[in-house]
Amino acid sequence: APRAVRIIALDGPAASGKGTLARRIASHYGYRHLDTGLTYRAAAKALLDAGQPLDDEALAARMAGDVDFEGLDRSTLSAHAIGEAASRIAVMPAVRRALVAAQRRFAEEPPGSVLDGRDIGTVVCPGASVKLFVTASPETRAKRRFEEIVGKGGDARYEAILDDLKERDARDMGRTDSPLRPADDAHLLDTSEMGIESAFQAARDLIDRALAAA
Ligand code: DC
Repeated sequence: APRAVRIIALDGPAASGKGTLARRIASHYGYRHLDTGLTYRAAAKALLDAGQPLDDEALAARMAGDVDFEGLDRSTLSAHAIGEAASRIAVMPAVRRALVAAQRRFAEEPPGSVLDGRDIGTVVCPGASVKLFVTASPETRAKRRFEEIVGKGGDARYEAILDDLKERDARDMGRTDSPLRPADDAHLLDTSEMGIESAFQAARDLIDRALAAA
């Protein structure tokens, strides 16, 4: 029998385009969307705002437990320092336990949900109806981020962004608890040579086929 709740899992490295794709997919299928990176960012911002150190696991886990999933706002969480701090506290098992429990509750609400992050297909929702692993070369991702910042009138250096992305990838893939990796049953979607429109079409084809077979 088909699952009552359809869950679409999107994982991938920073700036792979998975967030944009996830929003498009959620709106197309009429499902709710959770950018799980924002939940790590919200916990990190709470620590930074309180002037607390980032290496106190018990405290970080308490901040994680207090994250309001309905009030997550990308614009207040996009700062580079918040992303860095998020990546640091994301290595802590107690932080992950607190956030993953709440992410699962979000995912299980009917009719369906789209979650994007690093460990959705492997840990948060291993039974998801469809899993996509979205990648692009580090150079492509750095170029996209560079153009995004410059497009908003900001100041950026391509090489600095590229170094930064590689460092973030290494931390996200190298940690012991829930490292970034494709689930065994994930469909790989390399968007290096694709615009958002063709990436969305490709994702939709994979999802339609998987949902029809479920
Ligand atoms: O996708 P993002 O840049 O907003 O994520 C910020 C950090 O949060 C990322 O470097 C690692 C962590 N994260 C995670 O460990 N697991 C997730 N499911 C999502 C994000």
